[in-house]
Amino acid sequence: MAWPVLSGERMMLRPPADSDAGPLLGILTEPEVSKWWVGYTADRVRDEITESGNALIMEIGGHCAGALFLYPHEDAEYEHVVIHLFLGAHWYRQRYGAEALAIAINHLVAQGHHRFTLDPNVHNEPAIRSYERLGFGRVGVLRQYQLRHDGSWEDGLLMDLVASDIPNGLDWRSG
Ligand SMILES: CC(C)(COP(=O)(O)OP(=O)(O)OC[C@H]1O[C@@H](n2cnc3c(N)ncnc32)[C@H](O)[C@@H]1OP(=O)(O)O)[C@@H](O)C(=O)NCCC(=O)NCCS
Repeated sequence: MAWPVLSGERMMLRPPADSDAGPLLGILTEPEVSKWWVGYTADRVRDEITESGNALIMEIGGHCAGALFLYPHEDAEYEHVVIHLFLGAHWYRQRYGAEALAIAINHLVAQGHHRFTLDPNVHNEPAIRSYERLGFGRVGVLRQYQLRHDGSWEDGLLMDLVASDIPNGLDWRSG
């Protein structure tokens, strides 16, 4: 699916360009990011981000600051959108992750989507805190969900938010 450019107050979400590959690999090899996004190479950046059709670049002040992924479920009977994201450490703790989620989810609700899920590692406390502040709730533990650097499996936390939770839209400043 082709995603449009979506503008927020401090950032924009836009389709990836080939020139994003270098900055994205730089972010994905930062220790704070690769702790949770394991094993990224130039080939994976191309296949999973710049050429995937599922990713939007988070652009802040003209810089590629991270990426947000949208995976709409194909079966209309179980309609929902799975979301993943990462931000470079330079932009942490300024609610840019929350703003990116709000921009994307408000757009998706306007398009008729109604349920959104995130699945952070159970130990990823900054991510869980950021998502809860925004209004996501804890659904339950996904056992042995993520393959770690050492070959072990770690649990994930399924979190969700539905359109009826946010009748006035999602505000990244809330929480
Ligand atoms: C998760 C992520 C998207 C959150 O984005 P963000 O814009 O930094 O989020 P917020 O500014 O809303 O901060 C979230 C909360 O965690 C805290 N926090 C953020 N980064 C932190 C860090 N490295 N260590 C400790 N606390 C941190 C913030 O203080 C905030 O909590 P508080 O306001 O109650 O103190 C971003 O940190 C990130 O990309 N991390 C690396 C990759 C990742 O974990 N992706 C998510 C996979 S599901």
